[in-house]
Order: sequence, then structure tokens, then C-alpha cells
Amino acid sequence: MQAKKIAIGSDHGGLEYKNAIIKYLQEKGYETIDVGTYTKESCDYPLYAHKVAKLVANKETDKGILICGSGIGMSIAANKTKGIRAALCSETTSARLSREHNNSNILCMGERLIGETMALEIVETWLNTEFSGGRHQHRIDLIE
Ligand code: RB5
Repeated sequence: MQAKKIAIGSDHGGLEYKNAIIKYLQEKGYETIDVGTYTKESCDYPLYAHKVAKLVANKETDKGILICGSGIGMSIAANKTKGIRAALCSETTSARLSREHNNSNILCMGERLIGETMALEIVETWLNTEFSGGRHQHRIDLIE
């Protein structure tokens, strides 16, 4: 089933892509919950990572997207929440595999590392790829 409600957050380093992705998602008919940040003022990425992770882990949204300068801090922070499988992606193959094999439920990207067109293609691939299940479910169970 396609995710329809997406939680999204960024720090100052990911703000522009966050806004571009929200626009893209809304045009595609997704409902978005924007947890911030809302300005270019320097802020702390874990605060936003934890907000999105909580929404996804509590099943208040189907999936989440996090953007910071590199995507690294966001992915490290989001993965601290039980039940979260946050994948840092810089190209579409990783985005596809993170869904098929890892059933990733949060996508992380780095605004300072990839172009906006690539970021939107990653989002599209990630949202439209289903988990393969089977042997991959057993491996995910072992993570928990
Ligand atoms: C902020 O300067 C930067 O450290 C942050 O956006 C992110 O890249 C951290 O992983």
C-alpha cells in the first residue's frame, strides 16, 4: 500500500529541500506533517529527527523524511527510536533497495551533497517501492 501521510523535518541545512519536497508531495496528493525547522536560523538536527521518528514509530504517519546538510546526523538520530529503520540515500538504487530489503520507514538525505532533482527522484523511488518481505523480514526481525 502506498504511504499517504508523510512526516517531514529538517534543520537549517536541509530547509530548502524540505520545502521543495513538501510542495512535490502535496502536488502528488500526499498529506504532510511538517515538524520544522521553519527558518534558516542555525538549529539542532536531533530535535527534528526525534519528532519525525516518534510520529512514524507511533504510526501517526506512514513514513518520514529527514533532511540535513549531509543526512548523516538525521539518520543516526532517527535510528535511536525503536522500530525506526532510517536510510540515508544519495541515489535512487539505494532508495529502492532500502525499501525492498530493509523496509525503511524514514528516508534521510543531505542537501549539501546531492542536487534537488536527484532528491526528488529519490523521494519518488522510495515512496513507490514496496518491501519484498520473505527472507528480508526475518533479517529485520533480527535487528530488533
Ligand atoms: C549543520 O551544520 C550540519 O552539521 C547538519 O546539517 C548535518 O549535516 C549533520 O549531520
